[in-house]
Amino acid sequence: MNYFLNGLPYSALLLLAGVSGPTPWVYNEGRQVNETQLLRLHQLNKMVFTIKDMSFKAGMEMKVSGKIKPGCEAFSINIGHNDDAIALHFNPRFSSNVIVCNSNQGGWGAEHQEPCFPFQQGEEFKLTISFNNDTFYIKLPEGTMMSFPNRFGDDVFKHVHVTGDVKISSIKVN
Ligand SMILES: *[C@@H]1O[C@H](CO)[C@@H](O)[C@H](O)[C@H]1NC(C)=O
Ligand SMILES: *[C@@H]1O[C@H](CO)[C@@H](O)[C@H](O)[C@H]1NC(C)=O
Repeated sequence: MNYFLNGLPYSALLLLAGVSGPTPWVYNEGRQVNETQLLRLHQLNKMVFTIKDMSFKAGMEMKVSGKIKPGCEAFSINIGHNDDAIALHFNPRFSSNVIVCNSNQGGWGAEHQEPCFPFQQGEEFKLTISFNNDTFYIKLPEGTMMSFPNRFGDDVFKHVHVTGDVKISSIKVN
């Protein structure tokens, strides 16, 4: 995704937005955006990919393999109905070495923090995710199981998106 302001690339817009003083206004393809929207653009810019039509049903297993980029600050795997209706936001953070999980249904819910952190920058990983209408189960690298409530209570999700400093090599559902 490329946003330009007077020929400056998106990365320069972020620098501009970081300057002190009155909030600078920047342009998204000719339209003014405010700071909140800029953050949103920043998140979208970190989007690795989105799948909008997969059929991930209760009882199925989703296997995700990938490689964490060197210097990765965080990445997230999100399962739900669309970019803003997220039943499982799975978010390993290297700044604090915790996995934060949450859901978003018109606003973020209560965060769960998982202290087991079997991820390393620059390393490959594999995860297995399954769920029923009550709970998501995530098998972490090295085999530890963690869970997160399925606050939507739904038994099918069609939307997956991944953000952050990570390369996904495969997602398999069966
Ligand atoms: C930023 O713009 C959005 C969309 O127009 C609006 O909903 C939001 O209230 C604005 N935020 C601020 C801080 O002005
Ligand atoms: C959840 O699934 C169980 C077993 O399939 C079913 O009996 C129950 O009614 C479901 N609950 C909801 C809220 O859909």
